[in-house]
Amino acid sequence: MTTLVTGGAGYIGAQTVRALRNASRDVVVLDTLERGNKQAVIDAKLIVGDIADQRLVAKICRKYKVTSVVHFAAYKAVGESMTHPMKYWQNNVSSTLKLLETLQAHNVSQFVFSSSAAVYGTPKSSPVTEKEPTFPENVYAETKLAVENILRSLAIDGLNSISLRYFNAAGASSDNKIGEDWATSQNLVPRVMRALLDDKFKFEVFGDDYATPDGTCIRDYIHVEDLAVAHVKALDYLESSGTTTVCNVGTGKGTSVTQLLEVAAKIAKREVPHTIGARRKGDPVSVFADATLANKVLDWHATHDLQSIIQSAFTWHSTHPNGYR
Ligand code: WQD
Repeated sequence: MTTLVTGGAGYIGAQTVRALRNASRDVVVLDTLERGNKQAVIDAKLIVGDIADQRLVAKICRKYKVTSVVHFAAYKAVGESMTHPMKYWQNNVSSTLKLLETLQAHNVSQFVFSSSAAVYGTPKSSPVTEKEPTFPENVYAETKLAVENILRSLAIDGLNSISLRYFNAAGASSDNKIGEDWATSQNLVPRVMRALLDDKFKFEVFGDDYATPDGTCIRDYIHVEDLAVAHVKALDYLESSGTTTVCNVGTGKGTSVTQLLEVAAKIAKREVPHTIGARRKGDPVSVFADATLANKVLDWHATHDLQSIIQSAFTWHSTHPNGYR
């Protein structure tokens, strides 16, 4: 009973590999290392290759007796998806179809998919339940929704899947072994860390004139270790004959950019150097999760608060200014 983790050398993938190993599950990782780091794969076999290489995936399924898959392998930069759409459709959807075809041929019928709250676009209100209409506002989100729809239809063929719609993953592993590389991330938390630790870096708050209490956007920041555990729970759900579904994975708590800066300043014992810039196109004003379904169906709950998220990120970036390099 082995779980194949595609993209397991990535930020969330590597944390999930550790959570699966901590749950005594056998794991094999497939990653191209195009954007992943081999040092992030701990206590699991790493095979360097592409999910679209059907001969390789078939060999892995046979050799490791794969019974389930956690699928992370995808591009995830929203901005890049708008300038290179075909790259995103090819890698995130067409390659996933090839992967699914191979898995079906090898009777692998349990599939956990790394989806995103970005499928909601700008929701009418928050907290957001899974019943919220989907309205992707960028190609990255479109590709995530496309795979969700493919998975929903493959349930007819006996493929049981659960698509986890992540809110804002942040932080680093509690033992400081796995974290993000601020050189490649456009996300808020790594950039706030860089503003604190790299005095050449210019950090900008993208707008403080939104209709929120302090004028800055609100998001649901979830510790990457809590997010990783949700994948283990998702496999447990599928193994106890859970049927195909989608699930939000967030804390249910909204935090504004200003509030996050205040927590970061307390932890770093200094203000976060920043300027207030223009709004970023496509930024929803407020998006945070209603995580009731994951709480109930997966028996999953977030355990880390914002302080823990920011502290782990600060510890990681203070000791790994160049990521894994
Ligand atoms: C958070 C807030 C920005 C950077 C994206 C993807 C989503 C998911 C997570 C993959 C926003 C503000 C940010 C900066 C800022 N990725 N900000 N200055 O946009 O909520 O979600 O990443 O699944 O799919 O859409 O995350 O961290 O980029 O932004 O003011 O330099 O921080 O405006 O309000 P986002 P983010």
